[in-house]
Amino acid sequence: METILLGDSEADLNRAAELIKNGGIVGIPTETVYGLGADASNPDAVKRIFEAKGRPADNPLIVHLSDFSQAEKYTTSIPELARRIADRFCPGPLTIVLPKNDMIPMITSGGLYTVGIRVPSHSVMHRIIELSGCPIAAPSANTSGLPSPTSAAHVMDDMAGKIEAVVDGGQSEFGVESTVISVENESSVRILRPGSVTKDMLLEICGEVIIDHAILHELEDGQTAASPGMKYKHYSPKADVVMIEGNIKAFTEYVENHMENGVYSLIYDGDTECFPYQYMTYGRNSSEQAHWIFQRLRELDEIGAKKVFVRAPAVDGVGLAVYNRLIRAAGFEVIRL
Ligand code: TXA
Ligand code: MG
Repeated sequence: METILLGDSEADLNRAAELIKNGGIVGIPTETVYGLGADASNPDAVKRIFEAKGRPADNPLIVHLSDFSQAEKYTTSIPELARRIADRFCPGPLTIVLPKNDMIPMITSGGLYTVGIRVPSHSVMHRIIELSGCPIAAPSANTSGLPSPTSAAHVMDDMAGKIEAVVDGGQSEFGVESTVISVENESSVRILRPGSVTKDMLLEICGEVIIDHAILHELEDGQTAASPGMKYKHYSPKADVVMIEGNIKAFTEYVENHMENGVYSLIYDGDTECFPYQYMTYGRNSSEQAHWIFQRLRELDEIGAKKVFVRAPAVDGVGLAVYNRLIRAAGFEVIRL
């Protein structure tokens, strides 16, 4: 199959929407990362998403809508707290897990009786949902296990020949996937996957925000994940990634003592002055690091890095999301200096 590259003209968005309406799968831009979109209510189309990604069947897909009010159509009930959170953060980089109804096939929800609902703010994605008239199931558009795509070129790298089209909507703004939450009770939510809607932002509306244990810890044998995606090795480039916590002086010493062929370091923009080894930088603060992290992991593969020492991000605010992705890229290998 030839994968066509579409732009963001109304004609091209119409074409993307038609492909989705007719059971095709299309790479589409969102404000977080690029998604692999298909009609969420069409089991055959959704099956093709799992095949194209090589994704385990028990990992549920997020359903994207153009307005949160449409969530009524696909869920059995929406808690008052979920409505207040949606009022504040939708459209935006947030996914709310709700009890699903029969409009969402079990293949889409990975066998769960819940569905993650997200209303993206990216104008191109929003328009494609409107034009297609479909709820759009869309996981990140990477091959399972690889870093998520933040540009149309990344999607082409992973998906050319496997999907109908990719819509180029520019570089993703946030760079890490949406925050995924479930509602625990009338005042409390649980973060299942951290993203750009942070714990502090949610605390403006919720009495309590629980950070799920699986966000920072490896699941032990027999434990089940509230969010199935958390149990898989993820986001990893081909290179061996090691995350190192400590200041740049301690980091530099560590690299010096562990130098070998093909080592690159991924450090902060402000770290470079006295750093004598091969490196890339990934921003000055957590939101810049979120924006660049997946792109840098892909670039490190392109230049043939064998091993990557990453200077760990701060774990507060959006940094928690960056840390969560990196600890998985590193297979939970963290050096604390
Ligand atoms: O920003 C995003 O969320 C992107 C863009 C394309 O919207 N999508 C995305 O989808 O990251 P995906 O499939 O790569 O990650 C979805 C995550 C997985 O970890 C999955 O396990 C979790 O959300 N998830 C989805 N539905 C769920 C549900 N019903 N209950 C618990 N976790 C769920
Ligand atoms: Mg993903």
